[in-house]
Amino acid sequence: MGSDGPRFAAIVDALADDIGAGRLKPGDQLPTQRELADRLGVSIGTVTRAYAAAERRGLVRGEIGRGTFVAGSAAGEYGGSEIGPRAPGMIDLAVTHPLYLLDPDLSRTLEELAQRPGLPELLQYQPNAGMPRHREAGAAWASRFGFDADPENVLVCSGTQHALTVALTTVVGRGGSLFVEELSYPGIKALANVLELKLVPLPVDEDGLKPESFEAACRQRRAKALLTIPTIHNPLTYTMSRERRREIAAIATRYDVAIIEDAIHHLLAEDPPPPLSVFAADNSYFVAALSKVVTGGLRVAFLVAPSVAVDQLTQAIWATNWMTAPLCVEIAATWIADGTADETIRRKKAEAHARVLIARELLAGHRLRSDDHGHHVWLELPEGWESAAAFAAEAGRRGVAVAPADAFTMGGKIPNAVRLSLSAPRDRESMTKALRKLERLLSERPCCGPPIV
Ligand SMILES: Cc1ncc(COP(=O)(O)O)c(C=O)c1O
Repeated sequence: MGSDGPRFAAIVDALADDIGAGRLKPGDQLPTQRELADRLGVSIGTVTRAYAAAERRGLVRGEIGRGTFVAGSAAGEYGGSEIGPRAPGMIDLAVTHPLYLLDPDLSRTLEELAQRPGLPELLQYQPNAGMPRHREAGAAWASRFGFDADPENVLVCSGTQHALTVALTTVVGRGGSLFVEELSYPGIKALANVLELKLVPLPVDEDGLKPESFEAACRQRRAKALLTIPTIHNPLTYTMSRERRREIAAIATRYDVAIIEDAIHHLLAEDPPPPLSVFAADNSYFVAALSKVVTGGLRVAFLVAPSVAVDQLTQAIWATNWMTAPLCVEIAATWIADGTADETIRRKKAEAHARVLIARELLAGHRLRSDDHGHHVWLELPEGWESAAAFAAEAGRRGVAVAPADAFTMGGKIPNAVRLSLSAPRDRESMTKALRKLERLLSERPCCGPPIV
């Protein structure tokens, strides 16, 4: 690669940051290549490369004879999701699309990969649990979370959803019972439907699962495993303290309850405690994904499991997808090894922080739960709004999609709250526009017309 590699990449990253922060808006014209080269003191070739790479990433578009412009917002804002494509003009705060604008530069990595020897083996069937070097990459990734894993205990899965499928199939089995937080990620309900699991919701406080309730449920032998999201919980945003982790892990160990830990947002958190699984490593299934902190479309997550379970988990991978596409894992392993993953996290964290600060300011006066670097916030509705679903429906009519509490309720009472995904809008400006609309809506009463008597 030429010596201008890092410089051109830095220009692309700076462009992505400026677009995400709203300093550059869709349609803005960029300086000519010569102007930018003079301004930055780099060669025109470097700027040409940067603009071409930015165009490949969908950040800008070049128009012959006119120049280079910041691209429109279609992909980030109105893109598809598990709940379908958004209507034109709708701003999505419902799904945690994880700041796509700051995704790594795939085209550059693919160019590098194309030069590597041994490429054809990535098109071949490989061991179900993953190629040895990919399992090593998984162990390196787990160490970023503070989990010291042997590659032999790492299984490559196609995203968290797949890793949870594999773990639940193995640990709980069809028709079994599973402890969950009373509010949790909706994909768990989808999985419970398919695997016919009985969910046993447990109460939480600001620090996560309540130990006394967990212990009481364990004593009654109500389930064999606990599925938990202890760091930047989805949807409630809390991070369980180290002390609470110790307590919960000790109870799980005492009653022989397996811990399945979904750590999808862990690396966004500032100085989080070690994973819960570290405190009960002999009976824990730790899922370390790239999805929300690097990128979701690669579909790569690493499942770190106790040695005794590795064979059975491997069978479950074989049964569900044979193996994760080796090409995708190769890309993930490359980004883990060359620092791209860490750098992407640094940038996504910074952008997430800026967005959280805006949300806190715009929704000041409302009951808002948030983590400093989270992709989502949890908004409790004021009196007058008696149902989250009604609020979500009205927000939708006004052009903002939000996720009502109903989606996250694992069986108990539905709180009067909605989750807002701050990371879905392409830039801060559209996020701000959406939050302003919600703030207006919050101050209105849902009922219309004057009282009849
Ligand atoms: C808590 C949680 N777990 C798992 C997932 C799905 O992750 P993946 O894309 O890795 O399957 C999500 C996606 O929103 C999530 O929020």
